[in-house]
Formats: sequence, structure tokens, C-alpha cells
Amino acid sequence: MDLIQVDQEKCTRCSLCVQVCPSRVISMGSQGPEAGNPSCIACGHCVAVCPHAALDNRKAPLAKQLPMDNEPVLDAETAARFMRTRRSIRCYKKTAVPREKVLQMLEIARLAPTGGNSQGVAYHVIDNATVLRKISAVTVDWMEGQVEQGTAWAKYFDGLVDVYRKTAEDVILREAPCLVIAVTNKRFLDRGRDNTHFSLAYAELYAPTLGLGTCWAGFFGACAASGYQPLLELLNLPPQLAVTGGLMVGFPKYFYKRLVERNPLQVTWHS
Ligand SMILES: Cc1cc2nc3c(=O)[nH]c(=O)nc-3n(C[C@H](O)[C@H](O)[C@H](O)COP(=O)(O)O)c2cc1C
Repeated sequence: MDLIQVDQEKCTRCSLCVQVCPSRVISMGSQGPEAGNPSCIACGHCVAVCPHAALDNRKAPLAKQLPMDNEPVLDAETAARFMRTRRSIRCYKKTAVPREKVLQMLEIARLAPTGGNSQGVAYHVIDNATVLRKISAVTVDWMEGQVEQGTAWAKYFDGLVDVYRKTAEDVILREAPCLVIAVTNKRFLDRGRDNTHFSLAYAELYAPTLGLGTCWAGFFGACAASGYQPLLELLNLPPQLAVTGGLMVGFPKYFYKRLVERNPLQVTWHS
């Protein structure tokens, strides 16, 4: 089957599909749009931009793309305030997170942009409290090893290891009832990690609309990335997969009363 099909009755030869194609796959022929070079990345732009639903793409089918229908447009102030309400949540209610809610969040996470539309991020979700506490314990073991060896991590880990050893407080996963682990194929690791960052950022921003709070599980992620065997054995992932990130998920116990603030913006212009 050809890559693109054009409904000649509907196509007005407006060329929008040609103009938006990032890989220059589509050109305007005498019979309308036609696909030339084979490097379509399945982004679906050609289908999505067509004002008359005249174009279909085998790799990004028209039937799978929901039409836009007077989508609400947030004004800049509302959007800015929404973005600034996101915080890392480290205090969770004991309540379990319904799996449907996790799926709802990940259905948005999977839509994040990825390099060359490569995607390739999957999610392994752990919502078993015993397993989660074991993950924290082995992560602390690894961190303690880094402190003892005096690696570059030591100064970041020292205090938390100490707290864990003295109080058994879960300083790694914060007693979150759920951990979303992003995984990619090992052959795709660098790009998979980049793609993971965007995907989990989408999840973080969307989570509060579902009543959920999240926090990056960076210590867990670093431990997994180091290849620490006790952790990898616990996760028991298929051998071709690598962990590229982790996100704690749960219902927030507390709510923040102020918007996020950071260092002042630094911009340079080159004109
Ligand atoms: C890549 C990454 C890893 C992180 N790892 C952890 C972590 O392991 N534990 C933790 O409590 N917070 C972690 N955080 C959260 C940061 O500490 C937090 O984003 C930062 O302090 C700013 O606070 P905010 O997210 O509430 O604005 C991580 C954040 C990022 C982006």
C-alpha cells in the first residue's frame, strides 16, 4: 500500500501537507500530493493539517487522529499560573492510586514530543508497597557504597543515607504508593533517556488534573542507570530493557499556597 492516499474529490492542492512535512517526503505532483522519499517519520502532520481531511497516511492513519473541535485555548496568564503550580510532591496519602488513573496519566505522557518521533518509551508500574520499600532499601545500599568510595555522588548522598540508617524514613521513594518506571531498549538508550524526560514532564504536569502528585525518583534512576545488580534483580525487567527514569505517584497530603519561583531568567541574544 502506498504511504499516502489522497481523496481527489476533497483535495484542493493547497500544499499545506507539503509545507509542514518535516522530512520533505511529500511533494505536489500533477495529480496532487505524492510521497517521494521513504523517510516518513509518522508524525502525522500531513494528515492533521489538511483542512478537508483529504489525505491519509499509512503510518499515521486519519482514522486514529481525533478532529479538533473548538479546543479551549488557555490565555497566557492562566497557562502560566497552571505551569507554576506544579511542585514535586514528597508527602503522600496512604491511599492506593487506582490503575485507571495511572493509565490516564500515561496516555498523556506517551504523547510528548520525541526526537525524530522515535518514541520508544514504555512504562513499568510498581504499586506493591513491599516491592517499593525494597527498592528504596537497595537504592540506599548503592548510595552508601558511593559515599564509602568517595565518588562524585558522595556529597549528595551522605545526608540522606544517614537519615535512612538512623530513622528508616523512606528518603528515596517517600512512601509513594506507586512508582512509574520509564524503560527503553538498551540499543536506544541515549535518545530513550531524552524522550523519557519529556514524557515524564508531561505526566508531571497532567497529574494534578487527576488529583495526583508526582516527584522524579532521581536517586532510584541513578542507581538503576549504574547497573546496580540488586536493584536490577528486584525489577526483573526483560534483559533488552534499560531504566531511563522514575516517577513517584500518589495523592498529595498537602497543597502548596505559593507559585514556584527560580533563579532570575538568563538570556543572551545574538543578532
Ligand atoms: C531529573 C530529576 C531528578 C529528581 N530526583 C529527585 C529525587 O530523587 N528525590 C526527590 O525528592 N526529588 C527529586 N527531584 C525533584 C527536584 O528536587 C525538584 O524538582 C526541585 O527541588 C524543584 O522543586 P519543584 O519540582 O517542587 O519545583 C528531581 C527532579 C528532577 C528534574
